[in-house]
Amino acid sequence: MRDVIEEALRGPSVFKDESKLNFDYVPDELPHREDEFKQLSLSMRSILTEGSPQTMLVRGPVGSGKTVLTKRFAPEFRRAANDRDIDLETIHVNCRRHSTTPSALLQIVNHFDPAFPDRGFSTTEMLEQLTKQLKRRKTHLLIILDEVDVLLKRDDSDLIYHLTRFNEEGSIAPYSASLILVSQEDVRIHMDQGTRSTFKQTNTLRLEPYNANELASILEQRINLAFRQNTVNDGVVELCADIAAEEGDARFALEILHKAGQAADENASEKMRPEHVRAAKAHIHPVLIDERLTEVDEQRALLLLALARVLKRGGAYATTGDVKSAYEAACEEFNKDARGHTQFWTYIQDLDALGLLSSKRSGEGVVGTTTLMSIPDAPAELIEERISTMLDADAFT
Ligand SMILES: Nc1ncnc2c1ncn2[C@@H]1O[C@H](COP(=O)(O)OP(=O)(O)OP(=O)(O)O)[C@@H](O)[C@H]1O
Ligand SMILES: [Mg+2]
Repeated sequence: MRDVIEEALRGPSVFKDESKLNFDYVPDELPHREDEFKQLSLSMRSILTEGSPQTMLVRGPVGSGKTVLTKRFAPEFRRAANDRDIDLETIHVNCRRHSTTPSALLQIVNHFDPAFPDRGFSTTEMLEQLTKQLKRRKTHLLIILDEVDVLLKRDDSDLIYHLTRFNEEGSIAPYSASLILVSQEDVRIHMDQGTRSTFKQTNTLRLEPYNANELASILEQRINLAFRQNTVNDGVVELCADIAAEEGDARFALEILHKAGQAADENASEKMRPEHVRAAKAHIHPVLIDERLTEVDEQRALLLLALARVLKRGGAYATTGDVKSAYEAACEEFNKDARGHTQFWTYIQDLDALGLLSSKRSGEGVVGTTTLMSIPDAPAELIEERISTMLDADAFT
């Protein structure tokens, strides 16, 4: 009944369940990743058959399904373990969101002990706590470190070292801790000698970019889940798939589809047509602006807003001085206290690590050196608009 009222209030819509287009939704089936799913299962099976830990690298370009594949795999593998009366816990850590060893480790400890305090404990103490928990629970552990390159670039590979040591020291025997490292690039180059040698023989699962046909079936699956029947005109799927096939990026394909649906609703059109797809394409950029913005807090958002405003004046790069002034102005505008120089620098580094800005030292010919900043792959205007809206809505932490 509630649905009916909601639908009536919203007016006619092409969507029946828009949440199926959210970036964190995990479908039951993953078209064109059946072989990869099987390979992952084969690589991990000895955890269940022999109780021996495994490590694995999953690599592939943007939107090739790395995250969704591992998120689909984990609960299925756990179920297979439970069917065999083996206890196995799986934990998925997004290392872009938790990009230091203590922060990522806290996620793992919190899995077993949600009340574990988020500050005041050293890495060693957290590892001890984890050992204790694993012994008490008598369980194998499978940890997926997603976007692990962010952590490895920021931190040394301490975390991975410690997690693999669990098995070597036999501290949790007969149980084991296994690892799946997920990244676009080969992360081994970022590891220190010791950790790298552990991963030398490790299996790598490579996901290839999707071609247009594959993207089309991924889109068809989502259309059935998210759109009402007969609301998608001929040509829509093909067009979305073709646009995204250049990069082979399923996220981009789904994002265009989603925005095209919204464009159809805005025009009060009963069906989604290719012109809605074109309108959607003009509006979005193949980067996860919204997804990434959820990972910054208010102060960092203000800095990014300031950078976007400076860049909008025309230049390719902005100097630190200009951004600092714009940042102070933005703080005043939104009634926030501007932070000092040291914190300002930390924010720049954090945003750089998140890929939201890129910074470099100015070259010769400039008096003195300064840091130059830009926004790598999104229109400054779009960033400005999104952040302003979110600040107005008090959407940042
Ligand atoms: N085979 C598939 N079937 C259904 N949906 C898919 C498939 N592959 C990817 N997707 C969807 O496409 C989007 C992008 O996939 P995912 O987030 O797994 O990419 P990724 O490889 O982790 O990208 P990134 O490197 O940016 O993290 C998600 O919404 C995901 O659900
Ligand atoms: Mg991912």
